[in-house]
Amino acid sequence: MVVLPNGEFDVPAGKIANVVTHLEMTKRPVIPSDPAGAWTLRRVEAPELDWYRDLFRRVGEEWLWFSRVRMPDAELTAILHSPLVENYALAHEGRDEGMLELDFRDAGQCEIVFFGVTAKLIGSGAGRWLMNRALELAWSRPIARLWLHTCTHDHPGAVAFYQRSGFRAFRLQIEIEDDPRLDGTARRDAAGHVAIIE
Ligand SMILES: CC(C)(COP(=O)(O)OP(=O)(O)OC[C@H]1O[C@@H](n2cnc3c(N)ncnc32)[C@H](O)[C@@H]1OP(=O)(O)O)[C@@H](O)C(=O)NCCC(=O)NCCS
Repeated sequence: MVVLPNGEFDVPAGKIANVVTHLEMTKRPVIPSDPAGAWTLRRVEAPELDWYRDLFRRVGEEWLWFSRVRMPDAELTAILHSPLVENYALAHEGRDEGMLELDFRDAGQCEIVFFGVTAKLIGSGAGRWLMNRALELAWSRPIARLWLHTCTHDHPGAVAFYQRSGFRAFRLQIEIEDDPRLDGTARRDAAGHVAIIE
């Protein structure tokens, strides 16, 4: 790999490149009042993989979430069935339209592993409502740190949304991976904001 003097380098064809932002908070923030909306949240214990992957795709395919699509079934089952990993579904008009995954496997902390709503609920207040539930759930436990990461393929408002939620950015990483649209993991026409280089 050739790195130019200013740090630029070429990403190989067939790959995607992401800037990942890690954010954290170390005490319970003031949780704002809920936007009004007809949303409900339920915990889904030991989720079925088909249900989980369907919701994961409907929330995340447009943002190139693919890790849990590619992950072997046994590995994914082991994570989702851990008593320290909690999955929640946001429902709207009788259908699951948002997902929240809280991981308490590291003692004393919680990671928001996946957080998002489907396209039709973006900008509706459902994201803020879901974050309020995430903060209440996570900080109801004896944790000293809540953290998450988001990347440049995610919704462009995500970093600012998380900062308004009380998270502080503390780490940037570059991540280069196989483009999931080139091996059938994601739809070829997903994520028009990320070019495919063949
Ligand atoms: C990232 C994401 C959760 C952000 O949610 P969003 O839809 O932009 O946010 P919302 O519409 O819920 O809220 C945005 C603001 O508008 C306000 N708002 C929106 N609709 C409102 C309403 N009807 N009434 C009152 N307030 C409303 C919210 O209160 C919020 O204000 P605040 O942030 O100052 O508190 C969402 O874009 C998403 O799920 N994207 C897809 C997946 C993704 O990229 N996830 C992040 C990567 S990990």
